[in-house]
Amino acid sequence: MTAPAAGERVAVVEVGPRDGLQNESTLVETEAKIVMIEGLVDAGITRIEVTSFVNPRWIPPLADQADVARGIQRRAGVEYSALVPNLKGYENAAAAGMRAVALVVSASETHNRKNINAGVEDTLTRYAEVADRARREGVKLRGYVSTAFGCPYEGPVPVPRVVAVAERLLALGAHEVSLGDTIGVASPRQVGEMLQAVQAAVPLDRIALHLHDTRGTALANALAGLEAGVRVFDSSVGGMGGCPYAPGAAGNLATEDLVWMLQGMGLQTGIDVDKVAEVARAMGRLLGRVLPGKYSQAGPWQARPPAP
Ligand code: HMG
Ligand code: MG
Repeated sequence: MTAPAAGERVAVVEVGPRDGLQNESTLVETEAKIVMIEGLVDAGITRIEVTSFVNPRWIPPLADQADVARGIQRRAGVEYSALVPNLKGYENAAAAGMRAVALVVSASETHNRKNINAGVEDTLTRYAEVADRARREGVKLRGYVSTAFGCPYEGPVPVPRVVAVAERLLALGAHEVSLGDTIGVASPRQVGEMLQAVQAAVPLDRIALHLHDTRGTALANALAGLEAGVRVFDSSVGGMGGCPYAPGAAGNLATEDLVWMLQGMGLQTGIDVDKVAEVARAMGRLLGRVLPGKYSQAGPWQARPPAP
């Protein structure tokens, strides 16, 4: 166990503009996406996945990928990244000015075929070419292992599969691998056991957790990850999100809830939780519903001195 010391820094990777919006039936205008991204950066987010360069026929809500990538004002000290599923996606991302990309592969064969239209091994083989280009062009590479804690088609996923896929992504040159609980089925105990197994092969400072809150356990799972030594967590403003190729997938861990918990534990994120909550509420108004993030629904806590 490597629970964090008071004042330790924890990194938050905001995935709302990508994971949050990829499953939305309400069309969000490009300009509104740019306002969202800039609002999140204003709130102190320094790592943000702004879109994905996937086939727009597969993911229509992100069809404006290149316009979003070109439209955002890049700020110093902020890492803007995009998910890419193949070389074409990489080339489109690089042409739109992206200097960081994330590759995704599932630990389970069936989800990978539904998501990427290829087997796991074929996907990793194709990624070698993407990784080679990224290395030569100085583009930063991140990896995702989807369905790491359970697959909507195959059920439980053997831990050695997850470890093997994570190792392969690191060997391709990913600086970090994010383990995805794609359909929100993990428990805190499972997270601890997974990280125990993973760290025999991969140092924990290269592991992130990407937790969906489908069954209400994302924050508990983040805490389990934190106590086991993980210091990088993906989250989505307002708790938006879901994978269209994972039936039953729901929102990601809400950024504002994660930040509230971390700051309450005396950990540093550099993020203003109230500014994130403002963005969440603005997105809720655009989408015409209250987003699941708890903090943005509750609002700030006006701590008062005890009554005399
Ligand atoms: P495919 O149909 O097998 O591709 O799709 P293809 O190579 O046979 O090409 C077919 C057509 O797609 C061609 O166009 C290509 O040019 C085009 P046509 O000649 O027919 O006009 N094409 C593309 N267009 C734009 N961008 C591209 C691209 N590639 C080919 N990159 C493909 C294969 C990978 C493209 C498809 O399966 C796809 O787009 N999949 C993405 C699915 C997706 O975005 N899923 C959600 C993200 S993953 C996730 O949410 C999980 C995560 O959050 C972690 C977690 O929660 O666990 C990361
Ligand atoms: Mg996801």
